[in-house]
Amino acid sequence: MNEVVIVSPQELHNLIQNKLEKAGLKSEHADEVARHLVFADSCGIHSHGAVRVDYYAERIAKRGVTIDPEMYFEKTGPCTGIFHGDNGIGQYVANEALKYAMEMAKENGVAIVGISKLSHSGTMAYYMEKVAANNLIGLSVCQSDPMVVPFGGREPYYGTNPIGFGAPASEGRAIVFDMATSVQAWGKILDARSKNMEIPDTWAVDRKGVPTTNPHDVGALLPIAGPKGYGLMMIVDILSGVMLGLPFGGHVSSMYDKLDKGRDLGHTFIIIDPSRFMNLNEFKENITRTKDELHNIPAAEGFKQVYYPGEVSQLTYEKYQKEGIPIEKGIYEYLISDIVHYNKFGGQSAFASKK
Ligand code: NAI
Repeated sequence: MNEVVIVSPQELHNLIQNKLEKAGLKSEHADEVARHLVFADSCGIHSHGAVRVDYYAERIAKRGVTIDPEMYFEKTGPCTGIFHGDNGIGQYVANEALKYAMEMAKENGVAIVGISKLSHSGTMAYYMEKVAANNLIGLSVCQSDPMVVPFGGREPYYGTNPIGFGAPASEGRAIVFDMATSVQAWGKILDARSKNMEIPDTWAVDRKGVPTTNPHDVGALLPIAGPKGYGLMMIVDILSGVMLGLPFGGHVSSMYDKLDKGRDLGHTFIIIDPSRFMNLNEFKENITRTKDELHNIPAAEGFKQVYYPGEVSQLTYEKYQKEGIPIEKGIYEYLISDIVHYNKFGGQSAFASKK
């Protein structure tokens, strides 16, 4: 493993915010992105934390992110709406859209809010923690650029299209589960590349469609559970792309191509008020019971205990928030420097590697 630097959440926040502002992002937007990325790194989701800043900064500097987006919410029914993001920075746009979605769900029991045109919106867990903290249930799905082979294919079509879920509990942490529908998120390949670490041969294939352990040789990723993960990716793409009239499937823009153009991505929140179905306290008690009962399942040989889905990320969050967050030394050095790259990522294919 490469050398790491332990950084306090506040220092990391400031460094990220400064760098994004230096690239041209508005202070309020940079602040929200910093909060989001520090959350991801704190959860141990390093693939969606500070590692992304270098790339975001180049896209911002080239104005492939709208600096002053004209965002607005278009209510299309009592429980539905579209938040127009004008290709603002994804984490800020999605966070704004979520406010409308939660308000609508409180008012009407359910809300389906599609976000039309934003840049990369990060980790779904960030939004789902907020939803659960507001006594709501949430589902969060978004598009990402085509890099996963369809089951049986050798060229990519869908993105790593993530699904996030959150539900409140009466005691302790909410249940927040969040995953890419590929075996690994693309960021995990980036993470392995930055550490020069081999990857398991179940994650990705090379350009010939052959499984590879070298992160620098990756030509496409593999869906989780074969045709089932492939089907889930399609569902995410229909809900967050096709349904919003946005480019879909293989037409979704590439992260590292045309850094001077907006990405036109889609993201959808489905928010449910559980109190419309049963007594809220009873619901939350049953979520707590779910967690307790899962904890009480005896551990299989080789395992220490059963965690409820998403718990390990939350435990990591609590530890790193207290003890400091391990950040790759190279990323830290970039953050404390004055550098904003202008020609590091542009024009690369999604799978390009420096090595
Ligand atoms: P992962 O494989 O690290 O974890 C998936 C889920 O499993 C997490 O909720 C984690 O807490 C849980 N988990 C892991 N080990 C566990 C255990 N032993 N017991 C119980 N639960 C356990 O996550 P993945 O699939 O690599 O995704 C990483 C992040 O990438 C996610 O936050 C996702 O939202 C984000 N993502 C974002 C995209 C975007 O375009 N915005 C695209 C793809 C992924």
